[in-house]
Amino acid sequence: MQGVHSCVSEHASNPSRRNARKDSDLRDASRGERLQRVMADAGVGSRRACEALIEAGEVTVNGQIVTDLPVWVDPEEDRIVVQSKVLPKPERLVYVMLNKPPRTLSAAKDEPGYDRRTVTELVDHPAAPRLFPVGRLDYETVGLILLTNDGELANRLTHPRYGVPKTYRVSVKGKLDQDAIHELERGIFLAQRKEGQTHGAKRTAHVEIQLIAQDRDATVMELTLREGRNRQVRRMLAAVGYPVRKLERIGMGPVKLKGVARGAWRELTRDEIKALRKSAAIKVEPDRKSSSHQSKNKPKTPYVDPRSGPSKGVRRRSIKNAINRTTNPPKKSGNNSRTERRSRDN
Ligand code: URA
Repeated sequence: MQGVHSCVSEHASNPSRRNARKDSDLRDASRGERLQRVMADAGVGSRRACEALIEAGEVTVNGQIVTDLPVWVDPEEDRIVVQSKVLPKPERLVYVMLNKPPRTLSAAKDEPGYDRRTVTELVDHPAAPRLFPVGRLDYETVGLILLTNDGELANRLTHPRYGVPKTYRVSVKGKLDQDAIHELERGIFLAQRKEGQTHGAKRTAHVEIQLIAQDRDATVMELTLREGRNRQVRRMLAAVGYPVRKLERIGMGPVKLKGVARGAWRELTRDEIKALRKSAAIKVEPDRKSSSHQSKNKPKTPYVDPRSGPSKGVRRRSIKNAINRTTNPPKKSGNNSRTERRSRDN
């Protein structure tokens, strides 16, 4: 491979050379991250400056001098040496699922002068001081919130460009009628706010609605969104005349809220992390231009009419069961529920 040469001094001093992977692996993008990016993240310099060091033959990966880019490395596994100094391994990436209780702030810490409980306070993990919540749930909203120190993945999971779906279980007062369902499907114009100012209104993107239970007095549904505007579910339902009574997030992409009682947390499994990365790997086309009602290629909303019987995988429940649904709590409540503190509403 052009640009990857043996490096005598590095070979002589490095017994791990035996484990060095084949040169060609460095051309495989699935191996990890671009070399100059890993170097820049480790504080060597700007990406441009790192590229210059690479091109000048000052960098080895597993004993090979690398001069031609692009090259991909696994920062946790590969031995990267820059001007004879070994690059320290990056901090381990941690991914935690918290089942957020109500009256809890989705932030690492509260604003000055307030003393509200925060999601990070509930996660008793050694890496907790470096974890931050992925997106936000309202103070009263409960359910799935992820916390991580992986800024890149967090950004992808929340940016509408990647279209990672978030699913909410919502209960409202009254029987949600067809008109309201169609309005929600068509999209609702919601004011856009930035820095306390309103900047016009924008139609909400495609939502999927699945009715779970319904009677004269109440409706429970699952709503799946691919964007995350401020208080979006509450504002959409209020706009069609059905204020939300209870809101719980139950899914983020392939990760579902399970195995954690309210107020408790657990680390994601390897498979969940892999699936999450995959779900946020590809940019999607904007879902709906503000002038069109439904994007051309979008399948029709899988709205399920409760009169037509349950759809595959959806068991009709009584309203009471649907509202009081609990997530599969672990056998031992464990290390992580905390007593609630008094807090201010937001
Ligand atoms: N939509 C809302 O209205 N609130 C949340 O917390 C999340 C989505």
